Amino acid sequence: MTADRLMVLDLLTSVAAAAAWLGAGATAAARRPRAAAALFVAAVLASLTRIWSVVALAGAGWWFVQEKVTLALPLLLIASVAATALAGPRLVAAVRTRAAAPTAAPVVVVPLLAAGYAAVAGPVHALLLGYPATWSTGLVVTAVVAFAVLVTWRVIAAAPVPGLRVAVAAVTAIALVGVGLAVVPPTETTTTGDAAPAGSTALMAQHRTAQDTGHGVGHDTGQGRPVDGFRGPDTPAPGGAVRRFELTARTATITLASGKRVEAWTFDGQVPGPAITAAQGDLIEVRLRNADVSYGVTLHWHGYDVPAGEDGVPGLTQDAVMPGQEFTYRFRADQAGTYWYHTHEVSDEGVRKGLYGTLVVAPRSAAPAAPEDVDLALPVHTFTGTVVFGDQDRPIVRQAPPGTSVRLRLINTDNTPHRFTLSGVPYRLVAVDGDDLHEPGELARVGLRLPAGGRYDLAFTMPATGAVVLRADDRVVGVRLTPVDGAAGDGEDTSGWPELDLLGYGTPAPTAFTAAGPFDRRFTLVLDRGVSLAGGRPMYAHTVNGHAFPDIPTQLVADGDLIKLTVVNRGLETHPWHLHGHRVLVLSRDGRAPTGTPLWLDTFDVRPGEVWEVAFRAANPGLWMNHCHNLSHADMGMMLHLAYEGVTTPFHGAHSG
Ligand code: C2O
Ligand code: CU
Repeated sequence: MTADRLMVLDLLTSVAAAAAWLGAGATAAARRPRAAAALFVAAVLASLTRIWSVVALAGAGWWFVQEKVTLALPLLLIASVAATALAGPRLVAAVRTRAAAPTAAPVVVVPLLAAGYAAVAGPVHALLLGYPATWSTGLVVTAVVAFAVLVTWRVIAAAPVPGLRVAVAAVTAIALVGVGLAVVPPTETTTTGDAAPAGSTALMAQHRTAQDTGHGVGHDTGQGRPVDGFRGPDTPAPGGAVRRFELTARTATITLASGKRVEAWTFDGQVPGPAITAAQGDLIEVRLRNADVSYGVTLHWHGYDVPAGEDGVPGLTQDAVMPGQEFTYRFRADQAGTYWYHTHEVSDEGVRKGLYGTLVVAPRSAAPAAPEDVDLALPVHTFTGTVVFGDQDRPIVRQAPPGTSVRLRLINTDNTPHRFTLSGVPYRLVAVDGDDLHEPGELARVGLRLPAGGRYDLAFTMPATGAVVLRADDRVVGVRLTPVDGAAGDGEDTSGWPELDLLGYGTPAPTAFTAAGPFDRRFTLVLDRGVSLAGGRPMYAHTVNGHAFPDIPTQLVADGDLIKLTVVNRGLETHPWHLHGHRVLVLSRDGRAPTGTPLWLDTFDVRPGEVWEVAFRAANPGLWMNHCHNLSHADMGMMLHLAYEGVTTPFHGAHSG
């Protein structure tokens, strides 16, 4: 069974065990020995299944079972063994003799209910607190269970319970110790210990966050380097041109092709914003103004490894551009391929409402395109339920003569993945996240799952006959290309097509580094949900290692480090992970290395139960966001900073997204 199935099974069995134990206790109290005995047997079976599912899940990694092994199972085991020993024989006797009365005795009812409370603690901890169980959560949960048992005992017992006061006092003390541990975090999460670089005091003060050195050593970098000092050059590479753009953010009512009206936030009154194009080596200069987007705006160049001061993260690399203000971004178009830009201020709402556009850079070496070639940048976005390709919520219909070369650049600007299918022609997936794949093979009749924020470039030659149809999610026809006038049709039903696994596509090629490392730092991000008070904002957060932004320790790296990042998804939702300023090489997914092309990604979907290992070279000094690109998850805590030693921010440092 896969880890995600086991996670669900474990949740279901733990709920079933809790219900059966509680039911056994309640029916025993109600003097219904047969029902109580049946529920007792069910409870024992469910508890055993629970143990099996945890053992099986442990095979996917310790992260998936940590709180179960250290807390939930011990509680369940102790309580159910006690309940079996105390209540079991009496239930059996009651069923045999058909004597109802004995089952209502406290010695039967209390242990059964106690096992129920202990069983409830597991799923409650998993859902509310998530990963990891700490001494603090462990003590509080144990105290709450014990307290419930004492109250039950007091209520059910006819006579006074000896020692009850002492027991209540002890349980209260345990709970207080647990709460105390939560309020006063252990020292190692507030400092970096011996590895703390002396030059980072200012950084820590500004971030008000702990640091994680990823098992690497810190260096004294001496003076701090402010992040806004890392700016782009003001000249293109030799032979390159200067490409100037002006973008004005403003609110507008947009009318889509179908007539549907959308209250949007736009660049230049259009969605998507103006296309930014350049050739490799050009200097891109974009002057951003804000007319009336009251929260402020910035431009973040998604997947483009610009200097940190151009990265457009408000509060970290610049201040948000407020109405009436402006900011000019400047960077060299060094990476060819398909990218996009979007605001990073209240980005969940801002991007959803339309503050995004495409960035496409043609390779310097490319042979000039033939005029009849089709090259479409297609940001796919959902406006209140309507899927839009580019600026069209109706199919984009084109005629392209047989033999025309076509490139479709798919960009997922939504928060969740889209499944694309292309019918009517064999094609190749030639680039992912802007990076060319190695020897991509011909594809037909497959689904391509594109993570939120990610890009796929599809290339093919127009066939002599028949329509080529690009669909999203097997329903929405985005593009229909026909070789001859009048040829139409929506092609075939694509919903049954299997999904392409990118980790087995193309052929291997040498890479700048490999899974063998050696790595200077290793970081693990365990993604889950849990209640959080981070930033003084109570929420049911999307958490990383049990914390939500801004409480997640900043990952500290040094220039030149080779870094391994392990991302584990313990939750039931997909998390498209995105690191700013660097692209990462995929080392493995669920322990298996890619067998095809090297995959350099800036956004990778970590699905429920998955474990991804990726690596990157720290070669772009600055302060960077590292976050889930389901921007509503980021907004609910799932983001953190990655900082180069000694880099400081003059901005308030708290914001991010
Ligand atoms: Cu496209 Cu921080 O994001
Ligand atoms: Cu997420």
